[in-house]
Amino acid sequence: MKIKTPPMGWNTWNTFGNKINEQLIMEIADTMVEKGYKDAGYEYVIIDDCWHLPERVNGRQVPNPELFPHGMKYLADYIHSKGLKLGMYSCAGVKTCENLPGSFGYEYTDAAQFAEWEVDYLKYDFCHFPKTADARAAYTTMSMALRNCGRDILFAACNWGRCNSHLWMRARGVNTYRSTADISDNKKSFSDIFESQLENISLSGNGFFNDMDMLIVGMNGVGNVGLGGCEMNEYLLHFAIWAFFSSPLIIGADIRKLSEEAKAILQNKNLIALNQDSDALPPYLLGHDGVDGKLISMAKMLSGGRFAAAIFNIGDDGWKKGSVMFSDLGIPVGAGIKVKLTDALTGKELGIYTDCYQENVEPMEFRIVQGEIMK
Ligand code: GLA
Repeated sequence: MKIKTPPMGWNTWNTFGNKINEQLIMEIADTMVEKGYKDAGYEYVIIDDCWHLPERVNGRQVPNPELFPHGMKYLADYIHSKGLKLGMYSCAGVKTCENLPGSFGYEYTDAAQFAEWEVDYLKYDFCHFPKTADARAAYTTMSMALRNCGRDILFAACNWGRCNSHLWMRARGVNTYRSTADISDNKKSFSDIFESQLENISLSGNGFFNDMDMLIVGMNGVGNVGLGGCEMNEYLLHFAIWAFFSSPLIIGADIRKLSEEAKAILQNKNLIALNQDSDALPPYLLGHDGVDGKLISMAKMLSGGRFAAAIFNIGDDGWKKGSVMFSDLGIPVGAGIKVKLTDALTGKELGIYTDCYQENVEPMEFRIVQGEIMK
């Protein structure tokens, strides 16, 4: 399927793990509409692992009737009636990570089944993958099956960055590729993911997006990957990084119970606009500063000749002064070119600058500015 910008949605796994059912999915769809998530851009409601029976029936995957008594087409109809889209999950291996049937060898059967249920998005995992099989071939096969199933289905590969997936998945028709092992709800986990993607993020963008895993914003240590929890400023930093990196924004918290602060982070219009910019370019690394190298500055070109620059402090030894030289953004210093800067989080105008932007940044905080050259 052709996409322009990173997908946005909600997924069962981070909070609910294997405790999912039809009622939950319908309530989440209701909440997406009623609490403003749909208006903010969130569109996919994704059912992760544990929706199906342990054995195929007549070669087909079957939804667990105790959890999904009306089947998947019924849920798809409900979700579509709300103006949302349905995502589902399978695995390139013989079994999913929770030991339920995977799609290895059944790619065309399963793609046809998902199309029949009117699914719009497929997350495709990598557990229990046969040792002598070829990952490229397996993802290519499911991609071709989806491209011929008669329905537009977004292909969200999830092989955790194994086999250098960022180098070959774009050409195989994949839309998003999970680049890391699973996130958990603490600052070390999201900071590690951030640092691990600094060097290869440049291959993301333009219809093929590096998926840094589902968001933990607002989980507060509760649920399946709720190991520890974060402070609100840490959730904001995590969200800002994912937005800046053009990662898919897939919420993992229980949005039915989210605090107003967490909801405001997830619905921050300015950060979402950075993520959804129509040029869909990845950011690039400018450099590491500070004794520990944990003050990280980055840039991102935006549509209309604009740019964004970011300084992220993921260290823990006090504030540090970060700076972004405009020559690193393609704007020669000393040439008299004036740049108008806006705080990308609050939308506040910061004024006119000519050579660089500098700011003190506290631990686990960030500054992102958006700029345009004055004509
Ligand atoms: C893997 C994936 C997770 C989730 C689980 C489900 O660990 O990386 O995102 O889908 O499987 O079992």
